[in-house]
Amino acid sequence: MSRGTLIDLLYLVAATTFIIALKGLGSPKRARQGNLVAALGMVIAVVATFFKQIDGHGLHHVGLILLAMAIGVIVAVPAARMVQMTAMPQLVAIFNGVGGGAAALVSITEFNHIHSSHPATYITLEVLLGVLIGTVSFSGSAIAYAKLQELMTGRPVTYPGQQVINAVLGVGGLALIVIILVTGTTTLLWVLLALSFVLGIAFVLPIGGADVPVLISLLNSFTGLAVAASGFTLGSNLLIVAGTLVGASGILLTRLMSKAMGRSLANVLFSAFGSATTGGGASGADQRPVRSGSPEDAGILMSFASRVAIIPGYGLAVAQAQHVLRELGEELESKGIEVFYAIHPVAGRMPGHMNVLLAEASVPYEQLKELDEANSEMQTADVALVVGANDTVNPAASDDKTSPIYGMPIIHADLAENVIFLKRSMRPGFAGIENELLYNPKTTLVFGDAKDTLTKLVAAVKAN
Ligand code: TAP
Repeated sequence: MSRGTLIDLLYLVAATTFIIALKGLGSPKRARQGNLVAALGMVIAVVATFFKQIDGHGLHHVGLILLAMAIGVIVAVPAARMVQMTAMPQLVAIFNGVGGGAAALVSITEFNHIHSSHPATYITLEVLLGVLIGTVSFSGSAIAYAKLQELMTGRPVTYPGQQVINAVLGVGGLALIVIILVTGTTTLLWVLLALSFVLGIAFVLPIGGADVPVLISLLNSFTGLAVAASGFTLGSNLLIVAGTLVGASGILLTRLMSKAMGRSLANVLFSAFGSATTGGGASGADQRPVRSGSPEDAGILMSFASRVAIIPGYGLAVAQAQHVLRELGEELESKGIEVFYAIHPVAGRMPGHMNVLLAEASVPYEQLKELDEANSEMQTADVALVVGANDTVNPAASDDKTSPIYGMPIIHADLAENVIFLKRSMRPGFAGIENELLYNPKTTLVFGDAKDTLTKLVAAVKAN
């Protein structure tokens, strides 16, 4: 077998592992395995590339490539290992941004390579699209990171004529590509680069913090497309396959997230959701009475239940209370009380956030129920224990047509016989709106950090 055939074969193996990995990532049970399979595929692809012949020669600048790889490993491994679960969206934003930036740099280098040899128009088009999409993804991800990391305001930044300006920037980018293709004016590449950079920033500024995770998924999809464009330019089938997989899965995930929030993608991208304070709860101005109780009261209530539904949300991640939550579940089960976890698809701040947290604490997968299944069984629960969730159990999403989250599917905690709500204060959830469930006569609020409260709850259940 010739070296070229062997390398193509290895690329085929790598591309296949990426597809198998995506399948694995579709289920919490196989997600870790899926990640490992993808990593293995990536190692195969990188090693094969080192043995690739380009124009009959081996790889150039091997020393520099190894140096870049070493720097990447030194930065990325500790970053990925040390990142808090709550900061995962920021990490994804950075990794995605540098991916888009790298794809844009490859396209710029290739443009300078090819333009003197009068390439076919479609090749130049791929290169220019790579510059545009990769740069938008780079600067857009940087702003998304700044918003999530609170380096700037998380609220939508809006100004008069914003949509028109953004449209002009977008159309301007495409027009520049056409002009470069028609006239061959190479210096305009730098104008395209600058315009794409500004477009990425302008596109992300009006998107509020609550919607940034959806945006990151969309930018991730853009990066995939930029990488696929680089693949066409470099004649690399593997890059085309990998980029297309990222592009397609990114756009599917974006749609799924928007749907789970009960909104269209256009609404997420262009409505500046969260720019106005909505509902009395945002200011904590609602003075209606609520029923609060101690962890001991809640422990007694749960000890006498026969079925408990646990509804986790973002606060569970903030409190890092997943391990003690699992302990509580086990303690209840040891008393013969059936426990299930009701998982909302957008609970937390990133897709699969609750699944990852609960898997980390070794909560059995069989106890996890997705939205529809959980709702169909909620009526059979004596207690719904809401742990740091808020928007995802807010009845306004189904009852109040004027609510900004109207239409978002929710976990119907209010169908259970009793509701125990763990949170620290009367502050609203991420959408910044009042939650009627807090005032429902069925609800007992147990104020405090979720980890502390759950620790006390475990002790109370043990004692009863
Ligand atoms: P949220 O509505 O954000 O509510 C979190 C709750 O946790 C708050 O009520 C907060 O109240 C409480 N909390 C925070 N820290 C706590 C702690 N240490 N101990 C106890 N409680 C604590 O959460 P959710 O129900 O998971 O909803 C997620 C929101 O994010 C939705 O609006 C969703 O649309 C949005 N979103 C999610 C995603 C994905 S993919 N997951 C993407 C984009 C947007 P206190 O401050 O009073 O404690």
